[in-house]
Amino acid sequence: MQWTSLAALALVAPSHALIRFGCSQLVVDRLDPLVNPGSNPSPHLHQILGGNSFQPSMKPVEHDLAKLSTCTSCQPSEDFSNYWTAALYFRSRNGTFKRVPQKGNAGFEGQNGGMTVYYMQNQLADYQQKAKVQSFKPGFRMLIGDPAADTKAKADKFPQLTYTCLQDMSTRFPETKNFPTKPCPAGIMVNLRFPTCWDGVNLDSPDHISHMAYPASGNFESQGPCPASHPVRMPQVMYEVIFETKDFNAKADWPTDNTQPFVWSFGDGTGYGNHGDYVFGWKDDSLQKIMDEACYVNCKSMKTQSMDAMNACAIKNVVDEDIGDKDWIAEIPGAPPMKLQAADGSV
Ligand SMILES: *[C@@H]1O[C@H](CO)[C@@H](O)[C@H](O)[C@H]1NC(C)=O
Repeated sequence: MQWTSLAALALVAPSHALIRFGCSQLVVDRLDPLVNPGSNPSPHLHQILGGNSFQPSMKPVEHDLAKLSTCTSCQPSEDFSNYWTAALYFRSRNGTFKRVPQKGNAGFEGQNGGMTVYYMQNQLADYQQKAKVQSFKPGFRMLIGDPAADTKAKADKFPQLTYTCLQDMSTRFPETKNFPTKPCPAGIMVNLRFPTCWDGVNLDSPDHISHMAYPASGNFESQGPCPASHPVRMPQVMYEVIFETKDFNAKADWPTDNTQPFVWSFGDGTGYGNHGDYVFGWKDDSLQKIMDEACYVNCKSMKTQSMDAMNACAIKNVVDEDIGDKDWIAEIPGAPPMKLQAADGSV
């Protein structure tokens, strides 16, 4: 009996770490130091998390987030990375907009907006995390997704950017490539999984994507091998962003033509333009040390701070404009061209 239970325990014990943590909102601003460095304002609004040294321009390596930040809005106290996505709007029947706020996942109640961040070495449901990954290097950054994607075919280039219509906080299926077409009682969860194979050389690339690649066959979940061009297996970074739609779920407020009313801050009402940005900023080798621990979510080597400290780490907007948090606004900041979804999900 003892032997069998020990063997069973050995089978499920993790080999390497999987971490999952909350990050509160650092700022919601029209800045994009990755795609539009120095632009103030950048074309569209983002919701941004992490180290408070975030600014309109952050040169790789030179802008050392771990050194220049004095606090982080993320739970791990040594993670000064910046994480961001577009912001989301609700479009009223009269064509005015209000920004849709975010909320923490179940277990992260009290977090101020933000999202949940994961670093994984095997798929989420694998408690063993047997594979070993190499941490990102200082100055590393990447983005995934294409804001110009407006068809499913274009969105399918990025296999793991999806939406989950939350019936309750534990809903995880199904995932869709377009915005949910019906009201989601507990909110809309946006799932962004970054590619996991690095070229081993470049901290960034002109399109901020091509220094990374998806596995050559299979996928990250199936432990597919990395292509020869991008041989270095990195942690899978995943974001879960939960937009709190409770104030916007009344059918009486939805369009009469059966379309859905949510629009990304870059004017995308299809959802196919889903994209996210990442700038690595963990202190020294703290991420590698955590990744090397045998732990699942509860990892001793991950130093954490209180939720109050996370929520207290915020910065002032650089761009001074009404982003539609209180009053209905006539146009989304930057007035992006609108691509709205039709009743059948097409554009
Ligand atoms: C537009 O719609 C919103 C939401 O229904 C409403 O609160 C607002 O008063 C409307 N504005 C105008 C100018 O009709």
